Amino acid sequence: MDLHHKTAIVTGASAGLGVAFAEHLIRAGATVYGLARRNDRLQELRGRLGAAFHPVPLDVTDRAGIDAWVAATFSDTHRPDLLVNNAGIGHFAEIDQLDPAHWDAMLAVNLTGVFNLTHALVPHLKANPAVTHIVNIASVAGRIGNPRLAGYNATKYGLRGFSDALMKELRGHGIKVTCLFPGSIATDFNGGIRGSSAQPLQAEDLARVLIDVVRMPDHVLIDEVVLRPLNP
Ligand SMILES: NC(=O)c1ccc[n+]([C@@H]2O[C@H](COP(=O)([O-])OP(=O)(O)OC[C@H]3O[C@@H](n4cnc5c(N)ncnc54)[C@H](OP(=O)(O)O)[C@@H]3O)[C@@H](O)[C@H]2O)c1
Repeated sequence: MDLHHKTAIVTGASAGLGVAFAEHLIRAGATVYGLARRNDRLQELRGRLGAAFHPVPLDVTDRAGIDAWVAATFSDTHRPDLLVNNAGIGHFAEIDQLDPAHWDAMLAVNLTGVFNLTHALVPHLKANPAVTHIVNIASVAGRIGNPRLAGYNATKYGLRGFSDALMKELRGHGIKVTCLFPGSIATDFNGGIRGSSAQPLQAEDLARVLIDVVRMPDHVLIDEVVLRPLNP
């Protein structure tokens, strides 16, 4: 996809990866609708990135709110081209110490939030005559289990299955689906606790990969990308 004049939706755009994704997409010529709950941060980003960034203060778990925003924003004359399901949370604890509210919240954001955006936007992506793209941000925790991560692992393994099924379901509609599986990244995720990596990935590294994956020629579908820090 040539990103010039394309329309992207990035969830979790108020921090970390989402900020880097918005910056790089806009630099490549796209317009970005950035979703998150913290509107002050979204407004700051609007100030920095300009009119190509549209702050959308929404909780991805608010299905009615998402549906209403999509219906009010997109139409036959304004179609989305790219959805980046990036918003995610992690609560790490041994299973008997894991607060059930944290389990519920991880499922709600990391899985149901992805469903909400995807469900609302796929009809518009299908109606777009151009090749369109959904990129889901999972984690290496979607491929390997670890002590204290059972809840988070469950959501990211779930996201891998969701992505693989969607890839097969939507390719015939000209919609690519890619799942990214990063290792530790230097963001504020989980209070900045990132395991033991001395040299974690940077948000910029992920943004470069996102842009490369999205810019591949229309006939090329990259379904999964695993990124790790060189020195774990
Ligand atoms: N950092 C890592 O080491 C790492 C490694 C592998 C994968 N990942 C994945 O990468 C993605 C981005 O993480 P990050 O490192 O950038 O984390 P981050 O800095 O904590 O940012 C998370 C983003 O998600 C948004 N968010 C959380 N709950 C939300 C909700 N209910 N509705 C809307 N937005 C919500 C936050 O915005 P608000 O709080 O303003 O709503 C924030 O913009 C996540 O899916 C995470 O699982 C991270």
